[in-house]
Amino acid sequence: NRHLISAADLSRDDALLVLDTAEELARIAGRSIKKLPTLRGRTVVNLFFEDSTRTRISFEAAAKRLSADVINFSAKGSSVSKGESLKDTALTLEAMGADGVVVRHGASGAPHRLAGWVQGSVVNAGDGTHEHPTQALLDAFTMRKRLGDLEGRRVTIVGDVLHSRVARSNVLLLDTLGADVTVVAPPTLLPVAIDTWPCSVSYDLDGVIPKSDVIMMLRVQQERMNASYFPTVREYSRRYGLDAERMAQLPEHAIVMHPGPMNRGVEIAAEVADSVRSTIVEQVANGVSARMAVLYLLLGGSEPAIGQEVSQ
Ligand code: CP
Repeated sequence: NRHLISAADLSRDDALLVLDTAEELARIAGRSIKKLPTLRGRTVVNLFFEDSTRTRISFEAAAKRLSADVINFSAKGSSVSKGESLKDTALTLEAMGADGVVVRHGASGAPHRLAGWVQGSVVNAGDGTHEHPTQALLDAFTMRKRLGDLEGRRVTIVGDVLHSRVARSNVLLLDTLGADVTVVAPPTLLPVAIDTWPCSVSYDLDGVIPKSDVIMMLRVQQERMNASYFPTVREYSRRYGLDAERMAQLPEHAIVMHPGPMNRGVEIAAEVADSVRSTIVEQVANGVSARMAVLYLLLGGSEPAIGQEVSQ
């Protein structure tokens, strides 16, 4: 594949190659080797039309650790405010020599359109309510590190599935990797087409918790919420939030995940987010390795091989 737009772009072999490569890159970083020369002379443009903390910073760190030149573009403060289109913005950046374009956009499908306009590889860093494939890769990487092979593992994804690109990409990737996924949400926060997703659906969080190896809490996306969809915060937390009492019902080995940013006290209690079962900070660190693997495989190919470190 030349682009990474959807988790569905990845076969099982592709996904395992990305995860194994991320593991190898993390191992090299663990030896205090800060930089690899793999993408020297290549340019990665981070094109962010929607706010981000984790994804933007980790793509920048990933590209720099592979020795790429990085151009960071954020729509705020750019000529987008004068009405410049996505296509013209992208072509302008490409004229500056982008080999890879990492894009986050509020419109579902924007990275797909972009891939038709630019020569370089396009990586979807989150498009509207559609997909966030590198989040799913870093989540799978985190699960594999904690739990081993994902075949048959039971993953429960809880919350605002309707607006969640993280949920869709995770369901697709985890299914490819052989995990058994259940989504739990209020009926009003499930997509109409949920029955076409490769997962089970439950409305009974307390029933599925004791059978989960992983519980992934989703952010309640107030900014995309129509008031009629949402119960009160108090009611939502009571039925679908993860507090310490619920966490205690998880099997002993189970982990608690959240892609961030969190609404502490809404979908996840602060003491749960900060508990030893939580992998939330680890997920952020793993994001750099997963994104290095994606950039390496899309832009770097086979040479020079991993292992040819540059000294700092
Ligand atoms: N998880 C995630 O995509 O976070 P950001 O919106 O901060 O990038």
